[in-house]
Amino acid sequence: MLDGNAGAATQKAMELLVRYGEALGAERLVDTNNVCGAVTAPTPLKLELAKKKGTDYALKAGFSEMNLDSREVVDVPRVKVYTCQLIQNFGPDTASLHDGSREILDFQKQSDSFFGSRGIHIMATCTPYQVGNVPVKGEHCAWMESSAVVYCNSVLGARTNTEGIESTGAASLTGKIPYWGFHTPEYRYGTHLVDVEVAVESMMDWGLLGYWVGEIVQDQIPVLRGKLSKPELIKLKHFGAAASSSGGVEMYHIPGLTPEAPSLEAAFGTRKPIQTLKYGKAERKIAYDNLNSTAKDRKIDFIMLGCPHDSIEQVWQAARQLEGKHIHSGTELWIHTPRALRELADRNGYTKIVEDAGGHILSDSCPAISRVMPRGTRVVATDSAKQAHYLPAIMGIQMWFGSLDDCINAALTGEWSGRLE
Ligand code: F3S
Repeated sequence: MLDGNAGAATQKAMELLVRYGEALGAERLVDTNNVCGAVTAPTPLKLELAKKKGTDYALKAGFSEMNLDSREVVDVPRVKVYTCQLIQNFGPDTASLHDGSREILDFQKQSDSFFGSRGIHIMATCTPYQVGNVPVKGEHCAWMESSAVVYCNSVLGARTNTEGIESTGAASLTGKIPYWGFHTPEYRYGTHLVDVEVAVESMMDWGLLGYWVGEIVQDQIPVLRGKLSKPELIKLKHFGAAASSSGGVEMYHIPGLTPEAPSLEAAFGTRKPIQTLKYGKAERKIAYDNLNSTAKDRKIDFIMLGCPHDSIEQVWQAARQLEGKHIHSGTELWIHTPRALRELADRNGYTKIVEDAGGHILSDSCPAISRVMPRGTRVVATDSAKQAHYLPAIMGIQMWFGSLDDCINAALTGEWSGRLE
């Protein structure tokens, strides 16, 4: 591949991986058949190029530069291994909801068919594991997106570092990724022990715990024990997303629950904990106050649910609470879920329930990625610690964080009344 025998794009991809592996000090490459990456989103610059030289040329140029680090524009071949597109821009079906550029929305559609025809599966979600990409324990992957990476390593026991646009693009054409970091068994042991002394039960509790833990351990590997309810997908999804936002947590263990930690001893393996941390009532309050630090006004313009993208169970929960009710005038509600689950929500009648109440179900993106929100939004509410962490800085808005009940209540009344119980 490095000699160019598999074509120009694959040669560029292998050159990139060799440089990347050498920079990391990786001993070798490892085979992967599971790549979750992103072909770059449409931008005004690409639109300009498309006008001058055609859409296909603009997409090729974008892939060459951003995914292969090549100034030379090369043809984009079919991918060699199973590859999924992560989150991207919203598509044209959202055009009536916000002030985003119509041209960019349309360009997204052309991008989907260009890369789809090359074998990239346009899942268009930050939660590939909710729509069928569920790697098995020990499987080597090349995934981007911090909330997906931490789920992949911790909950599924598959192996990935937090890759980038470039390395996932290169991995999709070669089926290789540097064998380093979380691909190696010794890197995956716990570093910090966290004694949880306050009951962690609801999704909001798991988000708060994740947010506090991430802030303290940063990019290390926490091992949790104590008053933890038995979590399911939604809670672990929110815990990991929060911990990878306030810190850079890519893996955690819960002895007796996560696949590489049958016991506390197994979670730490050859390591001893660097530090033992206590998470009690005071620490929970710190996390809550930090997440609500930008909020002042209680009149809510916009409720954002689905960060990371909602599971069908979460869409069902929200629909049940909205059934037969009406969202306050002047308040918008968007629920984000993968497009494959949106189809299920349509079938089950949840989309109609949400829309009859005045809300919307959106797919493919989120406000933090697309940088679009309902017109005139100043104050936002969410049940996601991750969205509460990022959106105020990205969009310059005030943000309230609370439970799903708090958010639905805000949608119906137009006022925030959430508090920490
Ligand atoms: Fe997904 Fe956007 Fe949140 S990418 S994890 S919904 S910030």
